[in-house]
Amino acid sequence: MVREIIYTADEIKARVGELAREISAAYRDKDLLVIGVLKGAFIFMADLVRALDIPCQVDFVRLASYGTSSVSSGRVALTKEAEIPITGRHVLIVEDIIDTGLSLSFLVNNLRSCNPASLRVCAFIDKRTRRKVAFEADYVGFSMDDGFVVGYGLDYDERDRCLPCVCIIKEGTDDCSVQ
Ligand code: XMP
Ligand code: MG
Repeated sequence: MVREIIYTADEIKARVGELAREISAAYRDKDLLVIGVLKGAFIFMADLVRALDIPCQVDFVRLASYGTSSVSSGRVALTKEAEIPITGRHVLIVEDIIDTGLSLSFLVNNLRSCNPASLRVCAFIDKRTRRKVAFEADYVGFSMDDGFVVGYGLDYDERDRCLPCVCIIKEGTDDCSVQ
C-alpha cells in the first residue's frame, strides 16, 4: 500500500488560515459553538479553532457509520451526543470529510431538531462526486474526486491519523511508505 501526498502540511496550514478568516468574519458578533465530529475531525478542529480570531466554545459528537473501514453502509447513528445545549446557539459543525453525504445529512437533521439559532458545516475535504444524498457544506477546505485519503485526522483502520499531511492510498503493493 503506497501513500501519496496530495495536500502538504504547509498547504493545509494556509487553507485552514483562509477558512478561519472567513469563519471569524461570519461569526464576529455571534456566540459561536463549534462541534467537531469524532474522531476524524480532531486535528482539523484543533487547528481551525486556534486560527480563529474570535472566541468560541467547543464540543464533540461521535457518529458511527456502519460498514468496512473504507466503504460506508449508509446506516448512521449518534454514539456520543453534544454536551453543551445547542438550542438558540450559533453552531458550526466541523467534519473531516464528506463522502456520500449520509453522515452529515443525518447529523444536521439531528441537531436541527434542537433549534439552534443557526447551523452551518465546515468540512476539511469534500469528495464531491460520491454523494448518495444531496449535501452542500458551507465551508470546504479541499475538494477532491474519488479515492481514499488518510492523515491529518483521517485514518485507514485507525492508522495514519497523525500524519501532518493528507495522502491518498494506492492499493496493490506492499510498500507502506509515504511518498
Ligand atoms: P459519508 O459517506 O457519510 O462519510 O459522507 C463520511 C465519513 O466516512 C469516512 N470517510 C473517510 N475516512 N478517508 C477516511 O479516513 C476517506 O477517504 C474517507 N471517506 C469517507 C469518514 O469517517 C467520514 O466522516
Ligand atoms: Mg468522520
